[in-house]
Amino acid sequence: MIQTVRGTRDILPGDMPLWHRVEDVAREAFRRYGFHEIRTPIFEKTELFARGVGEATDIVHKEMYTFVDRARADSEGESLTLRPENTASVVRAYIQHKIFADKSPGELTKLYYIGPMFRRERPQAGRYRQFYQIGVEVMGSSDDPAIEAEVIEMLDWFLKELKITNTTLLINSVGEPASRAAYLETLREAIRPKLDQLCADCHHRFETNALRVFDCKVESCQAIVKDLPVITDSLDEASRAHFEQFKAHLDARGIAYTINPRMVRGLDYYTRTAFEIIGHDGLGAQNTVVGGGRYDGLSETLGGPPTKGFGFAFGLDRMVMSLPDGEVEGLRAADAPDVFIVFLGEAARQHSFNLARDLRQAGVAVAIEFEDRKMKKAMAAAAKAKARYALIIGDNEVATGKYGLKNLQTGEQESLSLEEIISKLN
Ligand code: HAM
Repeated sequence: MIQTVRGTRDILPGDMPLWHRVEDVAREAFRRYGFHEIRTPIFEKTELFARGVGEATDIVHKEMYTFVDRARADSEGESLTLRPENTASVVRAYIQHKIFADKSPGELTKLYYIGPMFRRERPQAGRYRQFYQIGVEVMGSSDDPAIEAEVIEMLDWFLKELKITNTTLLINSVGEPASRAAYLETLREAIRPKLDQLCADCHHRFETNALRVFDCKVESCQAIVKDLPVITDSLDEASRAHFEQFKAHLDARGIAYTINPRMVRGLDYYTRTAFEIIGHDGLGAQNTVVGGGRYDGLSETLGGPPTKGFGFAFGLDRMVMSLPDGEVEGLRAADAPDVFIVFLGEAARQHSFNLARDLRQAGVAVAIEFEDRKMKKAMAAAAKAKARYALIIGDNEVATGKYGLKNLQTGEQESLSLEEIISKLN
């Protein structure tokens, strides 16, 4: 028996209504807020993520699915990687297609994406090696913090629409790369005397990008990390002012938040504003549902023009797990057929085929099974399919053109023509 690869899973039909609901509400939010969809390839050149996300991050250092493509006669095989995230790809597309070229000054490019990402993390509930993200990226010449607050307001609407209420918005500022250099020195000085108590990965982080020690999940490291100086204390003036304005914009929109000065996000491209949304219901340890922030230097890092950027991605897997139980039941029920056709005898069976077609063409979801069965068995099949109605057809119904429509919730039954059934069900 061949099974799924560790850390990957099948999303089975019973769960699809939940996924579709999250996707539909997301697309509706994006429509209202002026975002347009982009689809980029699942694999890219490894260098894109190495440069974009950063060599020192766990993602690039430990978690990428990287392979050498088959060599051609005229060239070496090149190193390719299954995308671990999509911000680098979207910015690459923005540069490659010069999406900025026909924009007027101040006009923003607002893109969204839905699709699978791949990270070789240790699998557990809510953490997969193939997982799904829905994300947005806003790019342009403006770094107005009002953009950030508006994007978070959109997320706020989205969560409320899905009835996901028990969440916390965490915000922080990671400053400008220039001011970060001074902070990193302070941080390294504070880490140095405790280096022997940190894990091997933290030693690597200390050498390559000390900020990444804040990402460490090892308990003994966290005990040390919690006393280290925080980046918010060494922010440059412009970043500090930006953060103040961002908070004021959130306040003005009535959006509650918690400042977490140790939340630095696991990717190197962030500048200034960083945020996460933590969910509490049905999630367990992997409770970060949304992550995002500003990435003003990323376009230049990837060889593009100076561009300001801000965006987020949420884990679709985790968002689905956060849906409240009451919603889940309703969504599954809505996926059931409107009508289950119960026929008795060969003439009724033949008649049912046309009836099913006419109902379907009129927009009704029809279930029909082809086997001739006794009434009791057929009704049990209708109940198992969770159909709203059973449509009962025997010789008499074929002759009169009036069919028995039985409400399977209430047990009520009426005798109706096809037209009457269609108007009742629509
Ligand atoms: P991230 O924080 O790495 O950010 O991922 C965003 C979200 O993806 C997480 O909060 C989580 O819900 C989900 N996620 C990440 N890894 C896994 C996993 N192994 N299994 C299940 N879900 C997972 C980014 O990827 C950035 N590109 C977000 C961004 C967009 N920043 C600016 N623009």
